[in-house]
Amino acid sequence: MSEIGAKYLVVGGGIAGVTCVESLAILHPEESLVIVTASSLVKNVTNVSFYAKTIVKFDVHDTEAASLQKIHPNLKIVYDSLKHIDTTNKTAVTESGTLIKYDVVCICTGGIPRLIADARKCKRILGIRDTESVEEFKEKLSNGRRMVIVGNGGIASEIVHATRGIQKIWVVRDDYISATFVDPGAAEFFQNTFKHNSNDKNRSSILKRHVFTEEDTLVSINKNLKSAALGPDWYRKLENIRNETGEQELQIIYKVEVESVIERNNSEYPLDVKLTDGKLIQCDFVISATGVEPAVNFSWDIEPVYGKDGGLAVNEQQETSIKDVFAAGDVACASWDFSPQWFQLRLWTQARQMGSMAAKAMHARITNEEVLQDFCFELFTHCTTLFGYRVVLLGKYNGQGLDQDYEILLRTTPNLEYIKFVLKNGKLQGAILIGETDLEEMCENLILDQIDLTPFGDDILNPDIDIDDYFD
Ligand SMILES: Cc1cc2nc3c(=O)[nH]c(=O)nc-3n(C[C@H](O)[C@H](O)[C@H](O)COP(=O)(O)OP(=O)(O)OC[C@H]3O[C@@H](n4cnc5c(N)ncnc54)[C@H](O)[C@@H]3O)c2cc1C
Ligand SMILES: *[C@@H]1O[C@H](CO)[C@@H](O)[C@H](O)[C@H]1NC(C)=O
Ligand SMILES: *[C@@H]1O[C@H](CO)[C@@H](O)[C@H](O)[C@H]1NC(C)=O
Ligand SMILES: *[C@@H]1O[C@H](CO)[C@@H](O)[C@H](O)[C@H]1NC(C)=O
Ligand SMILES: *[C@@H]1O[C@H](CO)[C@@H](O)[C@H](O)[C@H]1NC(C)=O
Ligand SMILES: *[C@@H]1O[C@H](CO)[C@@H](O)[C@H](O)[C@H]1NC(C)=O
Ligand SMILES: *[C@@H]1O[C@H](CO)[C@@H](O)[C@H](O)[C@H]1NC(C)=O
Ligand SMILES: *[C@@H]1O[C@H](CO)[C@@H](O)[C@H](O)[C@H]1NC(C)=O
Repeated sequence: MSEIGAKYLVVGGGIAGVTCVESLAILHPEESLVIVTASSLVKNVTNVSFYAKTIVKFDVHDTEAASLQKIHPNLKIVYDSLKHIDTTNKTAVTESGTLIKYDVVCICTGGIPRLIADARKCKRILGIRDTESVEEFKEKLSNGRRMVIVGNGGIASEIVHATRGIQKIWVVRDDYISATFVDPGAAEFFQNTFKHNSNDKNRSSILKRHVFTEEDTLVSINKNLKSAALGPDWYRKLENIRNETGEQELQIIYKVEVESVIERNNSEYPLDVKLTDGKLIQCDFVISATGVEPAVNFSWDIEPVYGKDGGLAVNEQQETSIKDVFAAGDVACASWDFSPQWFQLRLWTQARQMGSMAAKAMHARITNEEVLQDFCFELFTHCTTLFGYRVVLLGKYNGQGLDQDYEILLRTTPNLEYIKFVLKNGKLQGAILIGETDLEEMCENLILDQIDLTPFGDDILNPDIDIDDYFD
């Protein structure tokens, strides 16, 4: 059994682990650091650009772990998986028996896809990796006639939305489709970009109305509640798309799960999918997009406290209930008192922010310094690109947790931009910015400073009025 020692130990080579290593390399380059990674490929963040103080966009790639050595001369890479951690003696043991002594450790083991049963033995059940674009993924499906999609989150939505010319049966466990990334209004904006309706290309519209919501992030499409208030029902529209012979391309089945998938050699379709309501569907592929759950597949001398979602509960310093054991990324469950416009969503953005915060807190522990929580946790932000458009989500962009009385202000210009403001008591709580809106910094300020916008009325989104002028 080999034995190594390090001041800092990081477990996991996803965004959280790599960011933690990179930050420690800057904070404490002369100190010893070990990363344990189960895979030789780690995540690499490139092209970091700032749209505002807290609004950061970047690209994510897979890269050889060895390239991390370029940024940290004292980094040791252990290609193995963590098996046991002894937090009393401060040692970690890997699968193949390496013993690592540490002073502080950060657990960044991410999540494991909640694959449906039978997935591992069948090549026709496809999971989608996070660095794989839906466009690339579509290629795999090009020779199929019928597929079953399982899951009700943003990834399933995107696949349903991006695929044409194949019959789709979308199996949804709940009675709603979750709008993790976009709301129905934004979805409709994207939908329209695929039509070439030049008549209304330049016409922008502003409308303001009250929205009565029942649930937080959920768009209750069966009950036609929130979606009706926000605009035409996008999913219903998708269901109406017909192929050349006039047959429906998409069918959504609610409140069922996949019970089993059986491969068949002598029938028209290679897969038999049995649903929990007894229905049998034949298809070519099953797409499993059922999300991830925190991955803690190693043992502890003392069990830490877990959060409601099964993740390791962490405080604002990213420290777990066990001293000197930190956690960041998908494996962590944020368990501090959030600022009003922040919430946890398991995305690259937050994996990166948590990894960096953990590094600062670990360094502060070693050097006996004080450190405050980073200001990025003041405001939820996420930047991405969807269908070629820049998408920026800020704060309570879907009215998450705002009770019943918030207002929505929308401005959409087909093929150009979609802007949604969520206001409560005249103050901006969140926003969705799609397109090159140039409003990121203004929105960040309006949300963080909670400026009363009632004097401006609907003019906040009037394209002929430069709001920035008001605040100069
Ligand atoms: C299909 C899909 C698409 C997504 N798309 C997006 C997107 O477009 N934008 C976005 O922001 N987010 C997206 N996400 C979410 C994003 O991928 C995660 O939030 C983020 O990658 C979490 O990073 P992490 O470092 O915490 O964990 P991970 O990236 O999961 O990394 C954890 C690492 O730890 C390793 N590990 C696990 N257990 C052990 C062990 N015992 N010992 C050693 N190593 C171990 C794993 O092998 C893995 O390499 C997507 C997720 C999925 C599933
Ligand atoms: C834990 O997960 C890692 C990464 O997915 C894997 O390599 C390892 O074999 C797993 N360990 C156990 C005991 O399942
Ligand atoms: C960085 O961004 C540019 C422009 O968007 C792109 O062309 C390039 O491929 C990106 N580089 C990486 C490494 O992602
Ligand atoms: C990340 O990728 C970029 C572009 O491929 C490369 O230049 C850089 O060295 C990589 N960084 C690390 C830490 O691997
Ligand atoms: C770890 O600590 C326990 C007491 O908490 C002790 O009994 C044990 O021998 C120690 N193990 C090692 C490997 O030091
Ligand atoms: C629409 O906008 C584009 C670019 O903004 C402009 O070139 C074009 O003349 C406009 N068309 C009409 C009909 O206003
Ligand atoms: C249209 O759908 C039907 C049934 O789903 C299928 O049999 C037919 O081949 C499809 N036609 C085209 C042109 O895709
Ligand atoms: C189908 O064929 C594979 C090998 O091609 C075989 O392993 C499997 O048992 C067959 N299944 C059935 C139901 O005949």
